Amino acid sequence: MPLPGLPLFVPFPITPYKPNHMKTDPSGSAPDSRPSPAKPIVYVLNGPNLNLLGKRQPEIYGRETLADVEAECRRIAKDLGLAIEFHQTNAEHQLIDWIHEARERAAGIVINPAAFTHTSVAILDALHACDFPIFEVHISNIHRREEFRHHSFVSRVAAGVICGFGTQGYSLAIERLARVLAGC
Ligand code: DQA
Repeated sequence: MPLPGLPLFVPFPITPYKPNHMKTDPSGSAPDSRPSPAKPIVYVLNGPNLNLLGKRQPEIYGRETLADVEAECRRIAKDLGLAIEFHQTNAEHQLIDWIHEARERAAGIVINPAAFTHTSVAILDALHACDFPIFEVHISNIHRREEFRHHSFVSRVAAGVICGFGTQGYSLAIERLARVLAGC
């Protein structure tokens, strides 16, 4: 039974992002020739050891490499009219610097902070300084693993958390972010 007042489904796919110069104005005149505004930028940030994706504990994280993940993120972002800044680091301060950079430039963040998820108040504080949607991704189901992985500092600031969906979690997070940015 559908719940009263709730729509049966949310329309999908999302209305693709259209730069202003491609929109026809209501009078029906041709698209204007002003330079295209930049696409909304999504920072996809990855924490320590994710550079070893595909080699490290493949029974947990799978055989896809981070380059595969990046290619898939770029493919899906292109379809959704988003630009991707994709980064990985083993250094906490570098992740924080990218979050600060995103704060100035981005429309949202998808972040897999890896082990820093469970330890870093500094990353939480940096994310708190951003006023756009943040989605947290974990390739593995952290709740099925060791107790110390069950707590995430980052979840306090995340609009949503995806874990246990393998590397597909990144695409799902980008799709969700596009919907949120489109106001759906
Ligand atoms: C991880 C889970 C973390 O607990 C771990 O430290 C990682 C990867 C994941 O993607 O499943 O390095 O974030």
